[in-house]
Amino acid sequence: MLDGRTTLSKFLIDTLDREPCPAQAAGLSALLIDVAAAIKAISAVLTRGALGGQHGSAQSVNTHGEEQKKLDVVTNEIFVQQCEWDGLLAAMVSEEMEEVYAIPKVYPRGEYLLAFDPLDGSSNIDINGVVGSIFSVLRNTGEPQAQVGESAFLRPGREQVAAGYAIYGPSTMLVLSVGTGTHGFTLERDVGNFVLTHSNIRIPEETEEFAINVSNERFWEPPVRRYVQECKDGRTGCRQRDFNMRWIASMVAEVHRILMRGGVFMYPRDSKTSAMEGRLRLLYEANPMSFLVEQAGGHAITGRERILDVQPRRLHERVPVILGSKQEVERIGRYHGEYDRGEDKPFTSPLFGTRSLFLPDFTA
Ligand code: AHG
Ligand code: MN
Ligand code: MN
Repeated sequence: MLDGRTTLSKFLIDTLDREPCPAQAAGLSALLIDVAAAIKAISAVLTRGALGGQHGSAQSVNTHGEEQKKLDVVTNEIFVQQCEWDGLLAAMVSEEMEEVYAIPKVYPRGEYLLAFDPLDGSSNIDINGVVGSIFSVLRNTGEPQAQVGESAFLRPGREQVAAGYAIYGPSTMLVLSVGTGTHGFTLERDVGNFVLTHSNIRIPEETEEFAINVSNERFWEPPVRRYVQECKDGRTGCRQRDFNMRWIASMVAEVHRILMRGGVFMYPRDSKTSAMEGRLRLLYEANPMSFLVEQAGGHAITGRERILDVQPRRLHERVPVILGSKQEVERIGRYHGEYDRGEDKPFTSPLFGTRSLFLPDFTA
């Protein structure tokens, strides 16, 4: 398919509806068109900025106890309204809704489940910074007429049939995977079409860029501290090259940069909370982003396991996230293994003081 000439609808019809087994994907393209409609509506609201009268707090908290912005609530409603009527969904889950949202009885029920974060990085809204939306699609495996409860959504991310995000930056883009690579579409605003501009995105295996909120350093586990310290040591340390750091405070923006030019993004396990789960939510942040990253040749782990293999236990469960360029993510995974087996004493033991004197070969 040609970059710059293929609309989202054409891409989906070619990729899904003309498959040898169309029943496998029946309705999925129509569902994704509705998700894209929600994204276009959100993009229009966000573009109005402060003039739209939707900035600031909604004076409420969400299921995570976080303050909701007015736009968290508005964008959630847009997703629900654009996707509930089409007869393709059995239920929805959102960061902004505590319970599973059952499709109202006035609408027909379909066989897909949609989980989403309607506005990611919402702390950036009031500074006119980059934000996004993230979504994940599963096929409902329960009885067609049965009530859809929490358990329907508690499936590992590898079972996703589609995942994507929208990034609302200087241009609005939709980045999508239906399991055939990761593809980027740019919103042609005057026409209203998403047009394929980035087909088959591949993440470079190596990188010199990392993203992590360093203000949490004292809460991290030793393998993450070790990795970041080595990056900061640059060409004078064991990595023998300089690294650069970025932090935008919007996972969408970080993942987009990584898809475009490589890098590593980490919101790792930390001791900030007693649960030590990290900050990001499994069902509608970590899973869809991991799907997109893997489909683009990158890796996504918790530190100790592949994110897409994590068995969810709760709707709004959080999970540590380390994703991006394959070689770097593998290295961080190896550091977790060495730490768990007690093999990284030169890094963790106070007996060794500074690392440089007693350093084994960390460049391997
Ligand atoms: P959300 O706005 O949906 O709550 O998500 C924000 C997340 C994520 O996108 C970002 O990487 C992280 O929170 C930012 O965390 P810090 O506030 O620690 O920078
Ligand atoms: Mn988010
Ligand atoms: Mn959000």
